Amino acid sequence: MDPLAELDQLQTEALSAISHAQSADQLEQERVRWLGRKSRIIEMMKLIPTLPPESRGPFGQRANQFKKAVEQSLAEQKSGLAQTPTKSHLDVTLPGQSFHSGTLHPITQTLGTILSLFTSMGFEVADGPEMEFEYYNFDGLNIPKDHPSRESFDTFFVDYASPNPKQGRMILRSHTSPVQVRVLEKHEPPLRIVVPGRVYRRDALDPGHSFMFHQVEGLMVDKKTRFSDLKGILDYFLRQLFGPETKTRFRPHYFPFTEPSAEIDIASHLKGKSSFAQKEWLEIMGCGMVHPNVLQAAGYDPKEYQGFAFGMGVERITMLRHGIQDIRSFFESDVRFLEQF
Ligand code: DAH
Repeated sequence: MDPLAELDQLQTEALSAISHAQSADQLEQERVRWLGRKSRIIEMMKLIPTLPPESRGPFGQRANQFKKAVEQSLAEQKSGLAQTPTKSHLDVTLPGQSFHSGTLHPITQTLGTILSLFTSMGFEVADGPEMEFEYYNFDGLNIPKDHPSRESFDTFFVDYASPNPKQGRMILRSHTSPVQVRVLEKHEPPLRIVVPGRVYRRDALDPGHSFMFHQVEGLMVDKKTRFSDLKGILDYFLRQLFGPETKTRFRPHYFPFTEPSAEIDIASHLKGKSSFAQKEWLEIMGCGMVHPNVLQAAGYDPKEYQGFAFGMGVERITMLRHGIQDIRSFFESDVRFLEQF
């Protein structure tokens, strides 16, 4: 390339690079790069003696112009940098930037409260599959073959059957109770467990029903577990959950897997807070002494071991605690609903 043309190009590059320097350190690097001992301009000036004599004068002048232009540009950039404050101004009167922080889902919050109350009483948290075999959902829980809940209008059947005929077909579990059977099969009593999880029912959606919801199951089995243990523990639990004023009522009921069985009602001190709370007493959970057939099916002698079990719906409890009217709001993912908790 013609040396004069090369100098033009070099100057354009140098001035642009210098104008982008952001600090005194960077400026010094640019000075070394364009004017230092190893720079291109020094290299070019060493070649002057090899140029034809008539070109030497004009080239020398152009090289001096180059140096001057670069030096001037370095000086300008330096004074420009000195005037720019290194920290940007903080204007505290400007509107702030707000960050959206999430919260735990209300169901997760209620689950956390329920589980921590039981773990504080020595219960351990267990879980089991949401796709379950008929045996665990029904037979192992003393629910006979002709029970209506085993019909396809009440249960979601999956197109698969266990190779083991005893286990039967696969379904979406309709309650968390099958985990009682699974835990008893694996672990010798004494045991105290609580089981959170999703369950599925062939229910049409309405404000009080969903095809999927959450339950917490409980099971305690030991050599001398009595109905009074069940009463004491669940009474305490409900007062912790709903407040010390809460009254409880154990009303006789029927469940195939417990005998005797009861439903627990709480007195509606929450009256007026939710659509559920219009009645005097509200049904809140099922419970009972583990049926001897359940213990026997899992391989235990009911004369040696006794136990109690209970089950509750987490959505229902959350609706009562917060005065929520419609179960569907838990699953619609509307942030305006969720951010209130
Ligand atoms: N599995 C019952 C249901 O889904 C709830 C239940 C009632 C569980 C009584 C229990 C119990 O463990 O003892 O309706």
